[in-house]
Amino acid sequence: MSGAGREAPPPWAGTRPLRAWLVGQWDDDEHQAWQQALTAACPGVMWLAPHPRPDEVEVAVVANPPPGVLRGLRGLRLIQSLWAGVDRLLDDPTLPQGVPLARMVDPVMTRAMAETATWATLAVHRGFFLYARQQARAHWRQLEQRRAHDIGVLVLGMGEMGRAVARALAALGYRVSGWSSGPPAADPTDPADPAVQRVWGLACLPGALAQAQVVLNLLPLTPATRGLVDGAFLAALPRGAALVNLARGAHVVDADLLAALDSGHLAHAVLDVFHAEPLPPEHPYWCHPGVTVLPHVAALTDRRSAAEVVAGNLARLARGEPVQHRVERSRGY
Ligand code: NAP
Ligand code: GLV
Repeated sequence: MSGAGREAPPPWAGTRPLRAWLVGQWDDDEHQAWQQALTAACPGVMWLAPHPRPDEVEVAVVANPPPGVLRGLRGLRLIQSLWAGVDRLLDDPTLPQGVPLARMVDPVMTRAMAETATWATLAVHRGFFLYARQQARAHWRQLEQRRAHDIGVLVLGMGEMGRAVARALAALGYRVSGWSSGPPAADPTDPADPAVQRVWGLACLPGALAQAQVVLNLLPLTPATRGLVDGAFLAALPRGAALVNLARGAHVVDADLLAALDSGHLAHAVLDVFHAEPLPPEHPYWCHPGVTVLPHVAALTDRRSAAEVVAGNLARLARGEPVQHRVERSRGY
């Protein structure tokens, strides 16, 4: 039978409305904007008022919620994060056990991350951070222009973000390696980029660092990755390398990073994420000439596209299908 002229049934057809609760750490305007976007994207969902009864909530859509808010939600069937990283959620000992936890994976957000990583890598490679410092002193000096192919870039974490970053940088001609915990899984929908060399496991890390003029961190924060960027890690880099941390502040031992910058071993650090956010005004990073500070904006969740991602997962739940982008709680990402 030809399907011509027939429309695919809407994903919510035949499902009963799910009862969902939106909770995040944000102001009223932002909450309202999110609520509007989600309401428009999810026709099969009944959105609960800000303080629902604990037995009402079937789905919690969360954006870095305060610890404890999901405690005791007896009817919970899904926790859907609006953030890609779920380290803060998993740190909450009251997070309901046994309930699927899905994180945000959205191509719009992934693209934003690739843009930020590309900007940071180009700025390090072509000396644009140095030129900004020169301008502050009205100093006119041309630096040697290096070729992208002569710059080794190491991407830590080859997940959704890392793979997109590695691919974007390889397309610009950089010598790109990507580090993960295990070997790459064969994925016909996202085939490996032959221009990106893959390495995995802690034993390979010192060798990969020794080849890198730029290291981009896109790891999830887990017990295994917390504090990974310490004195030994930085010492393994060649003199004059740069660190770009777009993942979590707690990956970095701040005192070791500052020491590496002060000694001149590390030429520059681009830091988007910090142990404490907002970064306290007295923190040495703010005024350090070798540090570029961003206010955790490498890849913000895009409201419109993220609402569609949530809608897809909630429709799957309503139809009794497995949700996408489930976090493996035991490994922390
Ligand atoms: P993901 O898809 O879960 O990918 C995680 C990658 O890290 C995987 O390749 C994984 O290796 C690797 N990994 C995990 N533990 C490791 C270890 N111990 N040693 C080596 N590799 C390890 O995550 P994603 O979506 O790419 O996001 C990564 C992180 O970016 C998030 O967790 C979040 O913290 C951060 N982020 C920041 C912003 C921002 O605006 N600054 C925005 C979004 C996300 P396997 O492939 O072998 O499992
Ligand atoms: C941002 O840092 C995120 O994890 O989405």
